[in-house]
Amino acid sequence: MIRKAIIPAAGYGIRNLPVTKSIPKEMFPINGRPTIDYIVEEAILAGIEEILIVLSRNKNDIMNYFDRSIELECFLESRDKEHLIPSITPPKINLQYIRQHEALGLGHAVMLGEAFAGKEPVAVLLPDQVSLQRKSMLLPLIKSYEQYQRSVLGLQRVKPELLSSYGVVSAKELNSRLYSIQSIVEKPKHNPPSDLAIMGRYILKPDVFKWLKETKPGIGDEIQLTDALSKLCKTSGIVGYQYTTRWYDTSIEEDYIEVQQQAYRMKRRK
Ligand code: G1P
Repeated sequence: MIRKAIIPAAGYGIRNLPVTKSIPKEMFPINGRPTIDYIVEEAILAGIEEILIVLSRNKNDIMNYFDRSIELECFLESRDKEHLIPSITPPKINLQYIRQHEALGLGHAVMLGEAFAGKEPVAVLLPDQVSLQRKSMLLPLIKSYEQYQRSVLGLQRVKPELLSSYGVVSAKELNSRLYSIQSIVEKPKHNPPSDLAIMGRYILKPDVFKWLKETKPGIGDEIQLTDALSKLCKTSGIVGYQYTTRWYDTSIEEDYIEVQQQAYRMKRRK
């Protein structure tokens, strides 16, 4: 059973400047809800009980969003608009926060969750990867973890021209959709090992922290989660689960527009 999840949300959002100078990309709206709200919901739907969000200095809006606003609740009550209160009520989950003081990379951000995770396996959800599925995308990864007792990566086949934006694996097929990961390369410029890319969802066993602590800055001069995962696949082993659903990367303008259109269509169909 996976009870805990880490959501790294400390990056500068360079691809989305200038708006991300003051608005965290995790607060970009989809149907009037911040993207990170969908991610927290996805974790809750998978049975996660505690979430650690890794933030940086200019991301207090995220904490404020998930806090209560008693003043606004009273105001809505006084104006006979109580029906809006549920939409501003924080999700029923234990949310914790930690600050990453310097942008040292995704691996470093995850490493800050070591004490939070303790001896338990932990889910990691990257908040710029959104799927609008009604079922949590973590569930098949949790199932794979229960079956193999190994760390698990969410994977998806990606067009060749996009592979240099992802962690890409070489993998042996175990059975349909499940792979044993042989090696991983972060953002390969040439000769990607396959077309299977990491899709921003992970189940990580506690030994990942040992490797993260030994990981030196890699590509982009940042501590890369992928580099620690490379060690993990040579030691305790990693399983990959191949998604076939549509993922939207909210840092990419086209995807962000598309996810909004799709979410809007789904809302109207309800
Ligand atoms: C990160 C990971 C990469 C993964 C990607 C998924 O990269 O380092 O391995 O494929 O997320 O979105 P980022 O997009 O943060 O540069």
